[in-house]
Amino acid sequence: MTHTPSAVIILAAGKGTRMKSTKAKILHEIAGRPMVLHALDAVDCLEPQKKIVVVSPDMDEVTRVVVAKDDTVEIVIQPKTLGTGHAVQCAGEALADFSGNVIVLFGDTPLMTAQTLQRFNDLMQSHDVGVIGFRAGNPTGYGRLIRDGSGNIIAIREHKDASADERDIDFCNSGVVGMAGKDFPTLIEALSNDNANGEYYLTDVIEIAASLGLKVGAIECNEEEVLGVNTQAQLSTAEAIYQNRARARAMENGVQMVAPATVYFSHDTVIKSDVLIEPNVVFGPGVYVSSGATIRAFCHIEGALIGKNAIVGPYARLRPGTVLSEAVKVGNFVEIKNAEISKGAKVNHLSYVGDAKVGAAANIGAGTITCNYDGFNKHLTEIGEGAFIGSNSSLVAPVRIGDGAYVGSGSVITKDVNRNALAVGRGKQKNIDGWAETYRSKNVKNKKVAKD
Ligand code: UD1
Ligand code: MG
Repeated sequence: MTHTPSAVIILAAGKGTRMKSTKAKILHEIAGRPMVLHALDAVDCLEPQKKIVVVSPDMDEVTRVVVAKDDTVEIVIQPKTLGTGHAVQCAGEALADFSGNVIVLFGDTPLMTAQTLQRFNDLMQSHDVGVIGFRAGNPTGYGRLIRDGSGNIIAIREHKDASADERDIDFCNSGVVGMAGKDFPTLIEALSNDNANGEYYLTDVIEIAASLGLKVGAIECNEEEVLGVNTQAQLSTAEAIYQNRARARAMENGVQMVAPATVYFSHDTVIKSDVLIEPNVVFGPGVYVSSGATIRAFCHIEGALIGKNAIVGPYARLRPGTVLSEAVKVGNFVEIKNAEISKGAKVNHLSYVGDAKVGAAANIGAGTITCNYDGFNKHLTEIGEGAFIGSNSSLVAPVRIGDGAYVGSGSVITKDVNRNALAVGRGKQKNIDGWAETYRSKNVKNKKVAKD
């Protein structure tokens, strides 16, 4: 089916006071991404010709976040929050030259799926006005979809304005409303604020459309998809739903998880097939895990590229700029930041590798620290191919360890080391035979004297 082009309006001007936060509601994050960007992402499947986000005058930060993600979005300011209908009226001017369908969504419903929006778009091809409804477990507070005797949708009644009979209806308005371009101006101009809230309700367009003899239709979606986030508790519920979806998606793609409920994904996490993720792993933004890799228990990973068959953890922390090539091993209590670790290299125990380049098959011993920061600047440590860094060494950057070189355990390395050389930078060991015996007997004697 060829679809009529559409414009999308995302309403986001509400104050969100129930979040009890200084941050605008729609900037609160799900899987590390502001809610409003989830809504914007979902509508991309409609290939909208215009995208409008309606904000209130004090929402500069929202504007910044939205435009940084997508500079084709038009920001419209609603001077006062006089209702959802008023918010759409404010966007009307930006649509003066637009003749396609107009679809309105809420910025605080971040779980709407592309499939549902596509079904809705299909409905809009044959209807003048459409709405996405859902069966609410508890309909209190939602607008109810009212039908006539033949089942046609003739109105949406807001909870506060509904009669007792109407309140028994559990088919509710999700907030997504669509209008054909030819009817949009008429419908929007006809809205009034003559209701229990004294607000301009967008939902009134249904009754107006029905009275004009326009064709009104609805599709139904899952209640989960239209969860509106108004409180911190609802935010955590939305996060849980998102995470469950992400886990299911990963497993569908061939990722093995021992305890999926304990693994947390970011909105952009990419995990290829045949990756094993053990329990209690958290992925922050910007992670790509290649096939065959194993992420062992209790790892925290962000901004990292993990190569094929690499093994990470348990208890590893990978920070932004980490690139692990094929078959690299990063073990327990190891932190890596802004470092490239080449094929087959090992950093197995208790190390910090930051601002570094590690050559293929190098071995970094337990407790090795790259001293990358002098209090003002960060410096690079380069470790050559096949180099061997003895345990408990400090590599004071900037410093370069040549290919195949050895660093003796416990060294503090401040100067470059040539390839295949040995560097030992520690106090020389001195042994004094019999010293301990003499020391002990002297002290035992003194102690006796003191007691007498
Ligand atoms: C709305 C619907 C209701 C539906 C419910 C679903 C109306 C009148 N009611 O009610 O039928 O069942 O959502 O969750 O539409 N907003 C603005 N400007 C305003 C007012 C609101 O941009 O002046 C934005 C808010 O930021 C929010 C959205 O519109 O993203 C919805 O507003 P809200 O006040 O939460 O509407 P509800 O009372 O929940
Ligand atoms: Mg709401």
